Amino acid sequence: MTTICSTLEEWRALRRSAAWQGKTLGFVPTLGALHAGHAALLARARKENERVVLSIFVNPTQFDDPADLARYPRTLDSDLSLAEPYADAILAPSAKAMYPDDFRYRLAESALSPRLEGALRPGHFEGVLTIVLKLFNLVQPHRAYFGEKDWQQLQLVRGLVEALLLPVEIVACPTVRDPDGLALSSRNRRLSPAGRAAAARFPQILQSARDPAAAAAGLRAAGFDVDYVEECAGALTAAIRVEGVRLIDNVRR
Ligand code: PAF
Repeated sequence: MTTICSTLEEWRALRRSAAWQGKTLGFVPTLGALHAGHAALLARARKENERVVLSIFVNPTQFDDPADLARYPRTLDSDLSLAEPYADAILAPSAKAMYPDDFRYRLAESALSPRLEGALRPGHFEGVLTIVLKLFNLVQPHRAYFGEKDWQQLQLVRGLVEALLLPVEIVACPTVRDPDGLALSSRNRRLSPAGRAAAARFPQILQSARDPAAAAAGLRAAGFDVDYVEECAGALTAAIRVEGVRLIDNVRR
């Protein structure tokens, strides 16, 4: 039975209850619009912890484009069905509860966050790091689960834990892909059938390119708008646009 907490008070009362005391707690933070990639994070958290919490919060401060925020799919009913087999609790707070300060207090990182995604989406990682810290404070998990698809986010969250001495273990989980290789993302559902079929070329080109320049050329030749392709810590990391939908991926070669 999954308990849904839509207020911070409900969550804090559950966290303090006898059934949760002294138990290891695994946490999966999300923006909702859950798919099999999130199910894999939840399944891993379920295996490694006595209690599992999922958060569903469409964090407004990480969207630099208001149209992108408005378009973000809200699919609470199907999210609940997907999470039910794994999560003991779902935290789905309001923006007012998460930002009592109207985002006057915010967390910035100065080296990695201005690059790649941060260069194209100003303020994105301030929003991500601020909400992740708030959620960690609220949930107080032993372990938190993040997908490797969002490579830059994963590095920044690891850095946050190290910099602020947070007592949480960050568990990185492999990217989940469709059979044709495209990484699962809530954005994929915005592609037309033709755009979705074409998008399968994205990971294939990254995988076979000898360097970032060759990958960028291959992606452009396949008809994609390329935002960046860079080699980072042994992985080729890239962002493209297909039918105006931004897709990101990284492959280790
Ligand atoms: O990766 C996401 O879904 C979000 O950036 C996160 C970590 C839940 C913060 O809002």
